[in-house]
Amino acid sequence: MQRGEFLYEGKAKRIYATEDPGIFWMEFKDDATAGNGAKRGTIGDKGRINAEITTRVYEYLAASGVKTHFVRAESPTVLIVKKLSMFPLEVVVRNIAAGSLVKRFGLPEGKEMADPIVELYLKNDELGDPLLNDDHIVALGLATTTEIAALKAAARRVNELLRPYFLKLGILLVDFKLEFGRENGEIVLGDEVTPDTCRFWDAKTREKLDKDRFRQDLGGVEEAYQEVLRRVEQSDA
Ligand code: TMP
Repeated sequence: MQRGEFLYEGKAKRIYATEDPGIFWMEFKDDATAGNGAKRGTIGDKGRINAEITTRVYEYLAASGVKTHFVRAESPTVLIVKKLSMFPLEVVVRNIAAGSLVKRFGLPEGKEMADPIVELYLKNDELGDPLLNDDHIVALGLATTTEIAALKAAARRVNELLRPYFLKLGILLVDFKLEFGRENGEIVLGDEVTPDTCRFWDAKTREKLDKDRFRQDLGGVEEAYQEVLRRVEQSDA
């Protein structure tokens, strides 16, 4: 498969067309940003590590019946994916209080939620990705009530699959962000699942193994990403 016309660039990936109009070329970058672009840097080998983690996780999800955009890995930093009509939404699932949940509601970091919390945010950097309720989503024409219910159910299903998947690897899945699209009337998981988009804590020590090490200048960022990849590669799921 050939890399075609450059289409767009996000904070962590570049998307190109291919000779197949239904297929994109998704290239993972080493670039890292935090605080909506306020902090910028690179994380050594991140592109390769995140492409590989996404490959393994999406293969597992697909084998468990979740529809994803993943087709195959083309090279260490490139995934071939299906073109979706993306919802401009970030779907966040939270099992343990951290990040903006702690800031917004004053919960203690590390408090386990009795039931996972699902939140939807508008994917819009200029507006700072605001939190949305269902009425906002319908009023803004971003998704129908039926689609909102399907997005939340899909996110909960991914959580039910990924929590035990990571726990077997000694990793607590604290929270994570998903992005979905439509394909022939179906809801399909797009984007990536990586230490950029998830909070991972070591199950024994609660050490952070994700982008919070970059956000909070904790050091050992690349080592943490490598450790997640090392464990994912050992998964027998
Ligand atoms: P938050 O606590 O900052 O709202 O983040 C919740 C989860 O979503 C966390 O695992 C990081 C992930 N996330 C992204 O992947 N992209 C984003 O733009 C934001 C704000 C969060």
